[in-house]
Amino acid sequence: MKKKTLEDIDLKNKRVLLRVDFNVPLDDALQITDDTRIAKAVDTISYCLKHGAKLIIMSHLGRPKSSKDTQFSLKPCAERLSQLINKKVELLSDCTGPAVKAKVDALKSGEALMLENVRFHPEEEKNDPIFAKELASLGEVYINDAFGAAHRAHASTQGVTKYLPAVAGYLLGKEISYFEKAVSNPDRPFITILGGAKVSDKIKLIDNLLNKADQILIGGAMAYTFYKILGIGIGNSKFDPAGEEVAREALKKSKEKGVPIILPVDRVIAQKMEKNVPTQIVTGDIPDGWSGFDIGPASCKQFIDILKTAKTVVWNGPVGVCEIPPFDKGTRELATFLASLKGVTTIIGGGDTAAAVKKFGLEDKMSHVSTGGGAALEYLEGTVLPGVAALLDKEQVSA
Ligand code: 3PG
Repeated sequence: MKKKTLEDIDLKNKRVLLRVDFNVPLDDALQITDDTRIAKAVDTISYCLKHGAKLIIMSHLGRPKSSKDTQFSLKPCAERLSQLINKKVELLSDCTGPAVKAKVDALKSGEALMLENVRFHPEEEKNDPIFAKELASLGEVYINDAFGAAHRAHASTQGVTKYLPAVAGYLLGKEISYFEKAVSNPDRPFITILGGAKVSDKIKLIDNLLNKADQILIGGAMAYTFYKILGIGIGNSKFDPAGEEVAREALKKSKEKGVPIILPVDRVIAQKMEKNVPTQIVTGDIPDGWSGFDIGPASCKQFIDILKTAKTVVWNGPVGVCEIPPFDKGTRELATFLASLKGVTTIIGGGDTAAAVKKFGLEDKMSHVSTGGGAALEYLEGTVLPGVAALLDKEQVSA
């Protein structure tokens, strides 16, 4: 990575303002249902504390309109972090103001506190310079470990970097290193699996990957828009009218560039998208009243035969409705195969694909499972992530 990291700066006795992405899922009782994002920030947090930092942790959670939306308090996250690092992390009642400043001033080397949700202030998402300056005034240096929020040019991810020396934490550094290598200098063949609902949401992604990858495997509801333009009947399956032109263009470019776009040869169809309903497998047209919800067994074999040749795999989007069995089968089979590979870099984009791999218990068998849904997608689209661009560059060594 071309950016400075926390190891490049002196943290001892410094007030270190650390941005993490603790935007974790909560249930109705406000209990965390997946603490991965908190657990994966522990390396950076522990390093800072071990090196004598006075640590001020900040994050967003959800999309509150104001501080009245108390269900978006970071309380559960502060508690979970305290358990994980075995050290009390006090949650302050706000992220700016004199009371916060007083608590920060009283912080001792090796101690940590957490600011309340930065999105309780609308200025955060507006990247308001006064708000950013106020946040920045709490620290002497800034570390960004919030890869999941790095695609947002907000006050706590970008605005603060105008006022403080800004470097990357371990998680952000790891995420960028994996994605950077995959898109700029992958071990080849480099094969991508794309799934998800809408082709129109993936225009930039397909476009960029046609310049980088050796083959693109397409599954999920997205495939049905491709089938339709190829004249295959899709019954009642999801069709994305806005994506029709995108799909046509992608097929054209795939031919021009010699980067095959591979569509599944069979599909699992049902009359309803419900748990354990009767299903059929078809290779041709889908009859009216039926919809495709997963790739079929021949497609699993087809995809796996291609993946057997890969040296780098990037996967973004499940290939079926993987939260509803039996439509999780295709996604599970591909994940299980990828998990068995040795000497191959397997990168799982965040969001639904990461959730599926975790549900199958295969997270530890992949080279990298991203904590960023939107951020991973934007990086793979070729977009410069503002939260990363704002960090200090490593000094160039002159020849
Ligand atoms: C995410 O969950 O993708 C990040 O935390 C960003 O959240 P946002 O989409 O609400 O900005």
